[in-house]
Amino acid sequence: MNSSNVPQRITAAFTEHFGAPPPLVVRAPGRVNLIGEHTDYNDGFVLPMAIDRAAWIALRPRADQQVIIHSLDLAQTAVFDLCHLTHDNQKWAEYIKGVAWALQTAGHKLCGWEGVVTGDVPIGAGLSSSAALEMATARAFAAVARLPWDAPTMAQLGQRAENEWVGVNCGIMDQMISAAGKEGHALLIDCRALATELVPLPRDTVVVVLDTATRRGLVDSAYNERRRQCEVAAEYFGVRALRDVDVVQFEACAEGLDPVTRRRARHVVGENDRTRAAAIAMARGDAVRLGELINESHNSLRDDFEVTNTELNVMVECARRAPGCYGARMTGAGFGGCAVALVALPAVEEFVSQVKSVYVKTTRRDSQIYVCRATNGAEIVTPQHESGY
Ligand code: GLA
Repeated sequence: MNSSNVPQRITAAFTEHFGAPPPLVVRAPGRVNLIGEHTDYNDGFVLPMAIDRAAWIALRPRADQQVIIHSLDLAQTAVFDLCHLTHDNQKWAEYIKGVAWALQTAGHKLCGWEGVVTGDVPIGAGLSSSAALEMATARAFAAVARLPWDAPTMAQLGQRAENEWVGVNCGIMDQMISAAGKEGHALLIDCRALATELVPLPRDTVVVVLDTATRRGLVDSAYNERRRQCEVAAEYFGVRALRDVDVVQFEACAEGLDPVTRRRARHVVGENDRTRAAAIAMARGDAVRLGELINESHNSLRDDFEVTNTELNVMVECARRAPGCYGARMTGAGFGGCAVALVALPAVEEFVSQVKSVYVKTTRRDSQIYVCRATNGAEIVTPQHESGY
């Protein structure tokens, strides 16, 4: 799908369904994480950027408490009543209901609406299509009920929807960046304070997402296992979360941990350091240093945290050997999905074609490659003077 067509396509589809153009169109992006992996649930630091692939909703308010939403991509319609939210078997609609539930649980009075939803964030690739849908939904409810848009609060409610309504135990990173991203920038997020700092992308570089075309069914249990191991390590160090352990303390005290837990903790402690160093390198425009840190992050995720798979490791090697590459690593939860590379702008075409051809030769799998632009987080797309929102 051509991403630039989405606003026209969704407006046309809404008009066809509901007989008039939509007064309101919202979008919320997927994300790619540049560095800071498996640190968010350790109260640590992450450095993601919002990408130019998003979930979109075109909608109009209703006078009652009904929500009627048609998915263009699945050709299915979900209908629910805000006064009687219950689970059912349309998985995609659970994200929308979950956000309504979380907003209402937080005390917000919501209003009904009807609309169409579509998206171009590849599902299950590790680019946070779920967080994009949650934040687009939150943006829609907030606009209709005229709630103030506070990105960290909305991100927390989206995370709550995913943890408690949908039942997936994610951290806060994906919702935060989808809610608070800024064009042309990555965001250094302190996942304890939920404080954010804008970090510009180095000049003449591009961020390239490399989808390995592998998906792992057991991500959830492996993810939860890693979370538990991190908690055990934090308890061993006598701290609230591994965020509170620095490299010096780690090296002085880690020998009492069992070898697996020690490696898990070493990744998190090192990754928090690398992430802050990466933000400093970016502020200086130092693409070479940023690339080195990205490479170190992958090696640690591969050897210590053990969340890569063969295809991710092959993809990262292909990328590192291709022209113009400053650094490459897996991104997201791992076990499959995508890698990310920082590439010199003038070399990007050659980079993409070399990675594609070497990867397919090595793995017999065809990769999807996206050259990404950093975009804004969740926003109303309809011009405000036209929509009144
Ligand atoms: C998934 C989760 C995030 C984060 C990453 C790993 O994307 O949704 O909260 O934990 O994995 O960094």
